[in-house]
Amino acid sequence: MNRSLLLGVLILGLPFVNGDADKWSTGNDGVLQLNSGNFDRALREHEQLLVHFYVPLSGQGHQVSAAFEGAAVELQGSEVKLAVVDAAKEKDLAKELNVAGSSEIRLYVSGDKHSPVVCPVPQSSTSILTWLRRRAGSPGDLVRDLSQLETSEDVTVVGFFRELNQEYVQTFYATAIQLPDVSFAITQDNEVTHKYGLTYDVVFLLRKSKLIQAYKLMPQTSKEELMVFISVYQMDPVTEYTGKTANQILSSPVLNHALLFIRKSSADFNHVYSAFNNAAQSFRVKILFVWVNVDEPRNGRLMEYFRVRDFEAPLIRVVNLTSHVTYQLPSDTLEVESIKTFCASYLEGKAKPKMQSEAIPEGWDTQPVKELVGMNLEEVAFNPNKTVFVMFYLPYSPASRALFPLWEELAEATEGREGVVIARIDASANDINLSPQGAYPTLCLFPALHAERMVVYSGERRLEDLIQFLNTEMEKAKRDRVQEDEDRRKYIKDIKDEEAKKADKSKDEL
Ligand SMILES: *[C@@H]1O[C@H](CO)[C@@H](O)[C@H](O)[C@H]1NC(C)=O
Ligand SMILES: *[C@@H]1O[C@H](CO)[C@@H](O)[C@H](O)[C@H]1NC(C)=O
Repeated sequence: MNRSLLLGVLILGLPFVNGDADKWSTGNDGVLQLNSGNFDRALREHEQLLVHFYVPLSGQGHQVSAAFEGAAVELQGSEVKLAVVDAAKEKDLAKELNVAGSSEIRLYVSGDKHSPVVCPVPQSSTSILTWLRRRAGSPGDLVRDLSQLETSEDVTVVGFFRELNQEYVQTFYATAIQLPDVSFAITQDNEVTHKYGLTYDVVFLLRKSKLIQAYKLMPQTSKEELMVFISVYQMDPVTEYTGKTANQILSSPVLNHALLFIRKSSADFNHVYSAFNNAAQSFRVKILFVWVNVDEPRNGRLMEYFRVRDFEAPLIRVVNLTSHVTYQLPSDTLEVESIKTFCASYLEGKAKPKMQSEAIPEGWDTQPVKELVGMNLEEVAFNPNKTVFVMFYLPYSPASRALFPLWEELAEATEGREGVVIARIDASANDINLSPQGAYPTLCLFPALHAERMVVYSGERRLEDLIQFLNTEMEKAKRDRVQEDEDRRKYIKDIKDEEAKKADKSKDEL
């Protein structure tokens, strides 16, 4: 036998040698680390290959990675083999396989490289396990006794069918596969008719024996329609934005969101919340209602994103997630009727997008004092890398004009200081959502690292005092951010711990 032939035999033989795969492992959990060199071989070897394509350090993929790691532990020794691909490093492979985005889980079956099944974005390891289990199962697995369902705290999606071998049931089951984070059940129990007044071929949502909403299936009802129905009604009319609900909110098929920014500690919280909740009932499926607790430091980033400053709360923003245009409820009183009217006018295309502004003046940033207008105020003031000190003035007021020279002096004194911007804006010509705290001119600082925070200056209008204030607030913002980052780390750890607990629980189920 010549040498190259021997080599060929050895290489061809390798994939069939048991235990060899361990050489690829990333750790003792038996997860394969794949690249363009060994991907095909892994496909050949494993009838079911669940691959997580990830980009290291991408914030978005964090939850998916945690879920995948949890699932990997559970699936050790099962017939599903797990693997990861670092999509940032393996660019060619990612391109060949059409992997887009920073985090995706796919199941490759029977070595078919070209038509993998994409796993719905998992909220936890349980999502992945449920998805796999439902994929491998059949509608019969979902059949439950009605009395078993009635006690559940979670929403259960129940299909009420006479026969299991109908097309309706297939659509229902396909939906269950697509929504692994939701509990599904099938009942054939006639008790449903008596108890809830429903007929056959209906899908309904149940929580603790309370009927939330029902949907009558039609021959043309698609999986997609059923998914929209479930996604909307499994949520309460109003959802609080938190680390836990963020995914559900952002993956909702409803692409118009109304966000109420409010302090939970404020005296009018109950009143405003109840008005918001009341209005929400009229817009299910059309607008998703979300509230954001402004007291919660973790929401700082979200507020930065929507450019809401804490002192502006309470306020309501409506966002069109398709066009990313935002609208602001133009009312001081957040009452049921004004919220409803506003939402209706938005849906009719009659609402006016937020922000009235002068045009951005030519050369606005060439002088020591930057000239802001409504259109660029937020962009400049909310820049987390800059500490921005803004004078809100009225051009016709002598008191405002008297302060211009001092502002010039301050700008010159801080010129060349990294990350410090001195600016002014004409409050009469630009709608800036600023409830003037005292008379104009108002001097407000937006510290770096805490752009959603605004500190109103109330000291002496003297250069030394202004500089002293600037320094103190910059230091304070730095200290607070360190503390918040620490909080956030703890928060992520909590989520991970919870994941681990959930994974333990689902072990028995699998
Ligand atoms: C949201 O934006 C999209 C894209 O610009 C537009 O087609 C749609 O009509 C908008 N929806 C509302 C309710 O304004
Ligand atoms: C702030 O600085 C970071 C890091 O240099 C950069 O990635 C980011 O784009 C900056 N943000 C703005 C709004 O300029």
